[in-house]
Amino acid sequence: MGIVDNSRALVIGVANERSLAWAIARELKGQGAEVGMTYQGETLEKRVRPLAASIDAHIFGSLDVSSEAQIEAVFAALRERWGGLDMLVHAVAYAEREDLRDRFISVSRAGFAKALEISAYSLVALARAAEPLMEARGGGSILTLTYLGAVRAVPNYNVMGVAKAALEACVRYLALDLGPKNIRVNALSAGPARTLSSSAIRDYYTMAHETEGRAPLSRAMKPEEVGTMAVALLSCLAGGVTGQTVYVDLGYSITGL
Ligand SMILES: NC(=O)c1ccc[n+]([C@@H]2O[C@H](COP(=O)([O-])OP(=O)(O)OC[C@H]3O[C@@H](n4cnc5c(N)ncnc54)[C@H](O)[C@@H]3O)[C@@H](O)[C@H]2O)c1
Repeated sequence: MGIVDNSRALVIGVANERSLAWAIARELKGQGAEVGMTYQGETLEKRVRPLAASIDAHIFGSLDVSSEAQIEAVFAALRERWGGLDMLVHAVAYAEREDLRDRFISVSRAGFAKALEISAYSLVALARAAEPLMEARGGGSILTLTYLGAVRAVPNYNVMGVAKAALEACVRYLALDLGPKNIRVNALSAGPARTLSSSAIRDYYTMAHETEGRAPLSRAMKPEEVGTMAVALLSCLAGGVTGQTVYVDLGYSITGL
């Protein structure tokens, strides 16, 4: 018996086996869910297809979250195959590489808009598409991934921190809108993990190393720890939790020095 038996979950944001979305997809499968996935374009398709096959996940196609047409196509395919949706995982973020180094003040208007569109607005667009499918199941649960840079000024995280602050605010407003339909919306704030996205942030690994030393649990975070908490938040175990940001960071965010 798994904690998400008989649930159908769409996971967006798997790029490779290091992706936090992949840790979540595996845990969802392990706890009994049927998993659906998307991939961002042809280059990633080659990596994502074998991963999906290894957990019997259905691929609902290519999805660039900046395209309304692609969002519509993915959710039309999902409606056709599943008829409804219980869980949605949003693990997507993007900023131009030059905006993840040096001074935040240098960010261009276009770079700022792009980071916020892909990393924050996309959650709103996907939640809107998921709403009728979750309503068809009597409710649902949505989870996004965020980082401490939303609430603290972390060197080099820059515009991504602003995007994560917007994302966390989107979580609260979506929770307010969707609560009456029994749809919960939460964010999981993860500690540093070595992934494709984090490698774009200058000195991220030096900072990650420092974080490990200072966190109360003083070790590196395991992606599986993000997976298990994500599934707990998505499941009925967290039935009374919505609009929240929950930290899975070995306690780093509570420290003062
Ligand atoms: N790695 C960390 O240290 C860390 C810490 C806290 C939060 N996060 C967050 O976790 C989430 C997943 O990142 P990750 O670290 O697993 O890296 P990742 O590179 O494995 O995943 C990022 C995903 O975003 C997708 N993406 C980017 N632009 C997209 C677009 N336009 N359309 C569709 N998909 C797009 C990529 O295809 C990729 O699958 C992100 O929101 C990230 O900010 C990561």
